[in-house]
Amino acid sequence: MTKPLPIIIDTDPGQDDAVAILLALASPEFEVLGITAVAGNVPLALTEINARKICELAGKPETKVFSGAVRPLLRDLVTAEYVHGRTGLDGPVLPEPTMPLQKQHAVDFIVETLMTREAGTITLCVLGPMTNIALALNREPRIASRINRIVAMGGGFFEGGNVTPAAEFNIYVDPHAARAVFDADIPITLIPLDCTHQALTSRVRVEKFRVMKNKCGPATAALLDFFERFDEQKYGTDGGPLHDPCVMTWLLKPELFQSRDVNVAIECESELTMGMTVVDWWKVTERKPNATVCRSIDADGFFDLLTERIARLP
Ligand code: BDR
Ligand code: CA
Repeated sequence: MTKPLPIIIDTDPGQDDAVAILLALASPEFEVLGITAVAGNVPLALTEINARKICELAGKPETKVFSGAVRPLLRDLVTAEYVHGRTGLDGPVLPEPTMPLQKQHAVDFIVETLMTREAGTITLCVLGPMTNIALALNREPRIASRINRIVAMGGGFFEGGNVTPAAEFNIYVDPHAARAVFDADIPITLIPLDCTHQALTSRVRVEKFRVMKNKCGPATAALLDFFERFDEQKYGTDGGPLHDPCVMTWLLKPELFQSRDVNVAIECESELTMGMTVVDWWKVTERKPNATVCRSIDADGFFDLLTERIARLP
């Protein structure tokens, strides 16, 4: 067996973040070095608790969870309780976590891990606003060349935005952080709405989690039941887009995605298009490619993988 891929999960759980964390913890291909919480879907005080709730649900209370940035670099925090509920994890009833929160700040953990582990080995799975990553780059710019790859859920180009007509939530919440990350010359894979809007939590797919005999299967169904209601109404679809687990899936089965290496620039000037990911898909500029941008996903392959992995959990 090849050595597991060491990853750090930077996240703002969020039901879809929670399912992404479950997928990572269920997959022996990953060594989860730590989970770093950031403010996003709900404030930081809740996202760090939610991350620990999910580790305990997965039977992995030994996972290290760190608390990070309480707000974006320059803008006021925008949250999304209208999607995720007051707690960020509305849906299943999950006990308050008893596993500890690590004392070290998330940004210090990211910097220390990247500077002490072998260069080029660590992958960052970024599931929320990029504030923690931008702060880490600011604290220690040498980490940029030591990151194996960033795989991030964020942005939308052909599909447009989900929080404004131009911008997707993760990038909109902290566009200045996203710009710093995209400008840092790090290998990046971006999984935008163009892709995640194809990965719908249809009734048939969710039922497969509900009928599992373990704890995590029905809990996943309860998370998705709550999460999808907002987007089902908005888009009129059977199920909502399951964004964040696409990140781990790209690492596990990249063959499920179609992508291009192109330039991505982040709009930070105009209030109208703030946080837009300007993707040079047709290569109409001289700007050099700085990301692998996914355009589509094999949704059945994605849900088959997710179902098989969630079934392995307690
Ligand atoms: C992204 O925003 C959040 O609401 C989700 O967790 C996901 O990371 C989708 O736009
Ligand atoms: Ca998220």
